[in-house]
Amino acid sequence: MRYYIGLMSGTSLDGVDGVLVAIGDGESRLKQLAASYVPFSPDLRTSLFALQISGFDEIHRVAQAANQLVLVYANCVLHLLKNTGLAPEQITAIGVHGQTVRHRPEFGYTTQINNPALLAELLDIDVIADFRSRDIAAGGQGAPLVPAFHRSVFGQPGATRVVVNIGGISNISILHADGSTDGFDTGPGNVLMDAWIMQHKAQAFDSNGDWARIGTAHPQLLAMLKDEDFFRQPPPKSTGRDLFHLAWLEQRLMYFPGISTVDVQATLCVFTAQTVVEAIVVHAADVQQVYVCGGGAYNATLMEAIKAAFLPYHLNVCVDSTEVLGVSPNHVEALAFAWLAYRHNERQSGNIAQVTGAAGERILGALYPR
Ligand SMILES: Nc1ncnc2c1ncn2[C@@H]1O[C@H](COP(=O)(O)OP(=O)(O)O)[C@@H](O)[C@H]1O
Ligand SMILES: [Mg+2]
Repeated sequence: MRYYIGLMSGTSLDGVDGVLVAIGDGESRLKQLAASYVPFSPDLRTSLFALQISGFDEIHRVAQAANQLVLVYANCVLHLLKNTGLAPEQITAIGVHGQTVRHRPEFGYTTQINNPALLAELLDIDVIADFRSRDIAAGGQGAPLVPAFHRSVFGQPGATRVVVNIGGISNISILHADGSTDGFDTGPGNVLMDAWIMQHKAQAFDSNGDWARIGTAHPQLLAMLKDEDFFRQPPPKSTGRDLFHLAWLEQRLMYFPGISTVDVQATLCVFTAQTVVEAIVVHAADVQQVYVCGGGAYNATLMEAIKAAFLPYHLNVCVDSTEVLGVSPNHVEALAFAWLAYRHNERQSGNIAQVTGAAGERILGALYPR
């Protein structure tokens, strides 16, 4: 039996999700043994948020934030070890995503701040990091990287399934009935909803979608939000806070001075839902099942908006959270990074060239030995 740990901290800047998994010799299925979530302190969140745009002395600030981030990662790993009773020497490797501060594949780079050397030093465990750069070096988007993992756990021959990960950004994996896989970022997930409710109600997110639920989506604003080049681009494509941020929203809101803040929240919720569903309908017309993961799965108003967005297409499609397949929506991304660490360790590829647009499948990540 081998044990791997996956650590994921995504564009929502909420904190770190970690899982500890076991994998039997000659098997490729992971068994989850423990999960842990460590939220970022307000200070770290503020530092990471500030680093999303360029500013004074950012090289120093990146290095400092990376060191703080690694302490949170280490804390998360210690919880996982405690929960399972495993010792560091029993863990084959940790797969750690790092914190994205820039995603610019069109310029040939993506930057996840991290200090994997420090993590290996603190924990005495092999650390595998920087999964995205090799895919970009091979001409890909470096994202999304989760589709290969989604295929391995959620794929079912003969059925067309779509896995939707709604973090800060949303991405889909289309698991076609014939075994082939497509995937790309569809646009915002929670990032704009989070920014808006923070600005107007000082809350990190719209818990359960309760605020959006009492508003009404504004059709003209919705149309303007959807009138963005990104949605017209064919895959492969990926995006981030580089494009979808509060200033992007505010530029468009200038045309609607009378709109209430709650109606903006309702519009943002429908915007996420419709852009996800339209991407699915165009690229997976024969979809039968949609499984949602990421924090967005806990937003009931968003889940209802996704179901509603399918209605005009008269497809016979079920929309559920990945919970119905036995995987908590919170754990899917961290599991993917445990799986990518396993793939690295086996010298197996982690990307799907058709998804990212890379020249081929590549072994992803760099090893920092214990
Ligand atoms: N109970 C909830 N109700 C509504 N939204 C939620 C809830 N729990 C999490 N979320 C949303 O999910 C986000 C975190 O999702 P996550 O999958 O961790 O994204 P990321 O990978 O970008 O960090 C939060 O910022 C919030 O918008
Ligand atoms: Mg998160």
